[in-house]
Amino acid sequence: TESPLDVHPVAGRIGAEIRGVRLGGDIDNATLEAIRAALYRHKVIFFRNQTHLDDATHEAFAERLGEPLAHPTVPVAQGSRFLLELDSKEGEAASAWHTDITFLPAYPAASILRAVTIPPAGGDTLWANAVTAYATLPAPLKALAETLRAVHTNAFDYAQQQPQATSEQVRRHREIFASTAYETEHPVVRVHPVTGEKLLLLGSFVKSFVGFSREDFARLFGILQDHATKPENTVRWRWNPGDVAIWDNRATQHRAIADFGKQPRHLRRVTIAGDVPRGVDG
Ligand code: SIN
Repeated sequence: TESPLDVHPVAGRIGAEIRGVRLGGDIDNATLEAIRAALYRHKVIFFRNQTHLDDATHEAFAERLGEPLAHPTVPVAQGSRFLLELDSKEGEAASAWHTDITFLPAYPAASILRAVTIPPAGGDTLWANAVTAYATLPAPLKALAETLRAVHTNAFDYAQQQPQATSEQVRRHREIFASTAYETEHPVVRVHPVTGEKLLLLGSFVKSFVGFSREDFARLFGILQDHATKPENTVRWRWNPGDVAIWDNRATQHRAIADFGKQPRHLRRVTIAGDVPRGVDG
């Protein structure tokens, strides 16, 4: 059905910019419902020029969309209730493909990210569509993936995943993002609770597949994860300060591009509570 919003798809399989909307806690119900529908359809939606938002109105909008959820290990930004600060130090950014906080049994349904300071060039973010990732697999791989269960943890080997990281960055990462260890098991093919679509639930928090050797896990994970993050399956966003991206955290993976050296890059994120995933067998 036709959206009452001014929606402009950005890439072929994922992502749309929505124009003419002012986000905030006072958004009207009809616009909010149209935003929700656009989110389920396009998986990530972008809003330019939301410079009126501050932490409080960002959180107030999040409360209209769902139930905000603070990060389990990182303290909330000062003066806020739920807000995660993503402030680059020396070019650091979440530059491995991931879905937010999948190491929790009920991981977030959505995330709302607001750009505060952005380098003049670089520091873009990529999103991949986890639904088309599944849909474009050959049938035998679909059938195999549907039988798999993955162990997700925040206590993964960051040094191995980010070979460029200095020992100081590795230490800081562990201290901030894995001060308490979480581990949980999810199906690799999840049925989206709203759209009913099947999707690949993978990303950098996956440590192993149940019943697989480390070697076989690494090979099969590589095949599925590379397939899920093919350029054709992604959208890339060039930020301006004041931009907001909202993604369906059940139907996507994302990553930052750490190409901005030591220039400041600062974004703020509120996540919305989700549910425990169901596989194809319920
Ligand atoms: C995130 O992982 O939520 C942040 C991505 C980014 O910094 O671009």
